[in-house]
Amino acid sequence: MALVTTTEMFKKAYHGGYAVGAFNVNNMEIVQGITEAAQELKSPVILQASAGARKYAKPEYLMHLVYAAVETCPDIPIAMHLDHGPDFETCKSCIDSGFTSVMIDASSKPFEENIEITKKVVEYAHAHGVVVEAELGTLAGVEDDVVVAEGSSQFTRPEEVEEFADKTGVDSLAIAIGTSHGAYKFKPGTKPELRFDVLEEVVKRLPEFPIVLHGSSSVPQEYVQKINANGGALVDAIGIPEDQLRRAAELAVCKINIDSDLRLGFTAGVRETLAAQPDLFDPRGYCKVARQYVKDIVTHKIVNVLGSDGKA
Ligand code: G3H
Ligand code: 13P
Ligand code: ZN
Repeated sequence: MALVTTTEMFKKAYHGGYAVGAFNVNNMEIVQGITEAAQELKSPVILQASAGARKYAKPEYLMHLVYAAVETCPDIPIAMHLDHGPDFETCKSCIDSGFTSVMIDASSKPFEENIEITKKVVEYAHAHGVVVEAELGTLAGVEDDVVVAEGSSQFTRPEEVEEFADKTGVDSLAIAIGTSHGAYKFKPGTKPELRFDVLEEVVKRLPEFPIVLHGSSSVPQEYVQKINANGGALVDAIGIPEDQLRRAAELAVCKINIDSDLRLGFTAGVRETLAAQPDLFDPRGYCKVARQYVKDIVTHKIVNVLGSDGKA
């Protein structure tokens, strides 16, 4: 199967009561860990790269890693998506180089400006057979080098979504209902509650429209502990409860973004292996374990959170 857009994936996910995982990729082992899990479970999957990931790995390398994954996973649909596109030029560059989906993130701009830039990206993308995600509302946390403090995050205003979708022609919409970026989302002992009332209001106004959740890592303690037991110093924190993500996936949420959990898994694999074998200096020794942990986490998400197994 060639790279696909998310159109069919989202249609099936919307009506099937599940979501497709969008996992961030930065290197070969991460691409392999994610797609091996998806292939084994016959699950559709979205690989996504941020501007930072493209800068780190070089766009050509990332794209060809993804093509290699498509070749080795013939049974599942795979989409390649730009995560948090900062401007038209970055979106255009991704569209021109083979991405099947882009996000234009102008959510920190005033409403009218967000509409204007999103519309421009949609026009270019649709003319090239590519789909577009945009965002209304802002999440707390860290994206690339941009830090949004907890108090400055803003839930999506449901009264804005219809006008935004109509005027831009966007294909999916990321909304802010209490998720947040990064591994330090909430203090231990607090009870994060996603705003399902906001989601329901959005769905009333935009029926059958694919909704996206960013910042959906759950910060698995098992991997945090592996890191801290082997020389790490991560601050105690909790993520988004997986049962709430599962509930969102059963509703209109068709795409759930996960990056931090993979970072934790990868780092846990490296630290644990090097701590156990201090004389090891073959990167394959520790990257192999890191890749396996990425695969384990994606397997867990597909089965327990997304419900996308067997839906390829
Ligand atoms: O939401 C942002 C993603 O976790 C990507 O992070 O921009 O550091 O690659 P990055
Ligand atoms: P996390 O930091 O919760 O993994 O969110 C990732 C994300 O939203 C990528 O766009
Ligand atoms: Zn995000």
